[in-house]
Amino acid sequence: MAVPIIEVKNLYKIYKVGDTRVHALDGVDFTINKGEFCAIVGPSGSGKSTLLNMLAGLEKPTKGEIIIDKIHIEHMTENQLVEFRRKRVGFIFQSYNLLKTLNAVENVALPLSFRGMAKKERNAIAEKYLKLVGLEKQMYHMANAMSGGQQQRVGIARALAVNPRIIFADEPTGNLDSKTTMEILKLMRRIVREQQQTLIMVTHDNHLASYADRLFHIVDGKIFKIEELHHEDDLEEKKEDEKVMETGADHGNGGNDGDSGSGERADGADDGDGITHEQ
Ligand SMILES: Nc1ncnc2c1ncn2[C@@H]1O[C@H](COP(=O)(O)OP(=O)(O)OP(=O)(O)O)[C@@H](O)[C@H]1O
Ligand SMILES: [Mg+2]
Repeated sequence: MAVPIIEVKNLYKIYKVGDTRVHALDGVDFTINKGEFCAIVGPSGSGKSTLLNMLAGLEKPTKGEIIIDKIHIEHMTENQLVEFRRKRVGFIFQSYNLLKTLNAVENVALPLSFRGMAKKERNAIAEKYLKLVGLEKQMYHMANAMSGGQQQRVGIARALAVNPRIIFADEPTGNLDSKTTMEILKLMRRIVREQQQTLIMVTHDNHLASYADRLFHIVDGKIFKIEELHHEDDLEEKKEDEKVMETGADHGNGGNDGDSGSGERADGADDGDGITHEQ
């Protein structure tokens, strides 16, 4: 059943640059459902990053509504936005924004420490996600001693480790070679599905975008097309399932109907309502 997690209504962002006004977003409307993987594509300067930044509560719209998980974020104060971002969203940047003199585990564990999680627990979670992104051997390397692609993966692990409901990614694999890019994308998609998260990704890469459930084409601050996609590899997965079914080895325990692996940690939704202070 489709449950809306992001609703955008009549959204505008107008930047004033000297005497001119730049319509970075020029009347945008859409809904994204829980669990969807949406890609945003469009030419340079079309408003992709602007849109993502507003959805993540990093920038305020000029006009319009942004409703995330039933909460209007467009009128929130800066403090409320900080709290909103910490609890509900993960952000993967193209420039990974790691702290260079911390090691990978410390970088991934940092957002968890803001939630008041004990060191042992947060390091264990950090290690788990670093393993998932293929950095088992580099877990205790300093960020400034890692390659661009490795740092990118630390950034991805950091965003996923806090188990946010929504993950925003702006060109998340911009610094990776094409093979690693595909591995990371598949990995992100798998984790996001397992944890029942929603992924919104900006990309220039059409191949990467083709892995999304829906493709938002944006030009001159307007969405001119939303494409629904289906996936070869999903079909292959299905075929595999069917094969298993035919041989009678499977009893239709297909994936998502059980609650056992839903991935909602106890520290998730209702952590720290009492913790409202900035560190
Ligand atoms: N802080 C700002 N002040 C003024 N204009 C801005 C600002 N940020 C973005 N813009 C303008 O808004 C428009 C959209 O920018 P945005 O960064 O969203 O594009 P983009 O689609 O992400 O492009 P790219 O693919 O190059 O990253 C551009 O014309 C840009 O110059
Ligand atoms: Mg951009």
